[in-house]
Amino acid sequence: MIKTLKAVSVLLALFCVAGGAFAGGDAKLGAGKSELCQGCHGVDGMSVNPECPNLAGQKPGYIFKQVKDFQHGKRNNDTMSAMAGLAGSDQDLKDISAYYASQKTMQGSRYMMGAPTDKKKIKAGKKIYLNGDPRTGLYGCVNCHGKNGKGKSETNQIFPVIGGQTKDYLVKQLKDFRKADRTNDPANMMMDIAKKLTDEQIDQLGEYLGSRE
Ligand code: HEC
Ligand code: HEC
Repeated sequence: MIKTLKAVSVLLALFCVAGGAFAGGDAKLGAGKSELCQGCHGVDGMSVNPECPNLAGQKPGYIFKQVKDFQHGKRNNDTMSAMAGLAGSDQDLKDISAYYASQKTMQGSRYMMGAPTDKKKIKAGKKIYLNGDPRTGLYGCVNCHGKNGKGKSETNQIFPVIGGQTKDYLVKQLKDFRKADRTNDPANMMMDIAKKLTDEQIDQLGEYLGSRE
């Protein structure tokens, strides 16, 4: 973990230098340019299908990076890989990222299908989220994803918002990281973490994060 943390600080330092990757996005222009994306990710970034992630209030630098990763085959999904090719120029993608980032941050209560409600699982998920699991050396998620999964800080674009994301999507991502189907995370940060999670813990985390406001 110490190695990972060092890698994180190096990445953060690098990002401060290369922080212009998404700067200059125009949310107003992005509203029109994101019409295609809205079919699945929603007009306001609250998705219309639990398999499609919410993008409402997501970090613009993170959105930009993910679409570039799909374009370059660093992240793969039959549906989204095809869509990424239709995102337009880098400037179009910056505008789209700025548009979704400017929307009211994702909340469980705004899902079309309703937020998770299993109190026992939510409580268990919260415990893992805050404290990790000392038995397996799992590091608490809060250290990188921030309070309620809403991100670490305004300026940190590396750690995505995951609180208020759809449970189905969260569970799929954690399982994809665990079996190395998703490998685009910097310094294997998420792969190392997901490998320590059981199916039950993933379900509990999905329930907790999916219900965040
Ligand atoms: C036909 C439905 C569909 C359309 C249209 C679509 N997407 Fe997606 N998108 C998906 C799905 C499904 C995923 C989840 C892929 C996975 O499970 O890894 C996704 C994932 C993403 C992610 C990753 C989010 C995260 O939290 O990591 C981003 C960013 C994204 N899409 C942006 C866009 C943009 C920008 C457009 C428009 C150019 C777009 N999408 C159009 C279905 C769609
Ligand atoms: C050391 C920092 C760190 C810790 C601790 C951490 N994460 Fe992450 N997580 C990241 C990074 C960085 C990404 C973005 C990867 C990328 O750029 O593709 C991420 C991405 C994710 C995603 C995908 C989000 C999306 O929109 O696709 C999920 C889900 C996630 N983390 C859940 C968790 C959970 C649950 C825990 C605790 C068990 C956790 N993370 C702990 C750094 C961390």
